[in-house]
Amino acid sequence: MPSLPLRLGVNIDHVATIRNARGGRHPDPVRSAYLAAAAGADGITAHLREDRRHISDGDIARLANEIQLPLNLEMAATEEMVSIALRHRPHAACIVPEKREERTTEGGLEVAGNMDALRPIVARLVDAGIRVSMFIEPDPRQLDAAKALGAPVVELHTGSYCDHEGAARDHELERIRAAAAHAAAIGLECHAGHGLSFDTVKPIAAIGSIAELNIGHFLVGEAIFIGFEAAIRHMRALMDEARR
Ligand code: PXP
Repeated sequence: MPSLPLRLGVNIDHVATIRNARGGRHPDPVRSAYLAAAAGADGITAHLREDRRHISDGDIARLANEIQLPLNLEMAATEEMVSIALRHRPHAACIVPEKREERTTEGGLEVAGNMDALRPIVARLVDAGIRVSMFIEPDPRQLDAAKALGAPVVELHTGSYCDHEGAARDHELERIRAAAAHAAAIGLECHAGHGLSFDTVKPIAAIGSIAELNIGHFLVGEAIFIGFEAAIRHMRALMDEARR
């Protein structure tokens, strides 16, 4: 199968983390979204968490109204988040698991075991014209469940791949490759993300059936050293190199 074009979604949650460390308005995540666009991002991703620890309701409203790039709202499968998504109608909504005590999204969503609860949520978002993706482990059971719910997209969790090294990382990469092939075979668009860095992005970007990578924490961290735009441009270049 020929490779698909590969989009880069820049996750700006941790611009908001830095802002919230002091309160106030600086640094402004919306300004970072404009910079990301100028640096070649294809979309902006933001996770409105239940505890609002980084992105706020006001950020989502401004991102939805002001930026030109497609907005991908990461959200838990709750009534509150569904009504926020229906109010702002982002281009896409990525349904993620959320535990209050976690530092970041740990592990993928258990779709197969929660079909009855997830079905109406996916249906309401899809009916509103929002492109729904489900953030899952690279596990064929979860892919089949997402397909059965009518979600057009899955995002494969790359956290385990990034956290391991050597043979264990190779094993995780194989799982991601197999899951991406399975997604293509059953007609799901496949995205990937979590924990990706300059060191880990290329083998994932080389998987031709993956259409989008969502990357945040590393880019915001790297911005301290080389600047946000330069970090995004370098990430984009590594992705393009891997795709060639
Ligand atoms: N994709 C999803 C679904 C996520 O929840 C996150 C983290 O919010 C990311 C991608 C980006 O992960 P990172 O910030 O580690 O690059």
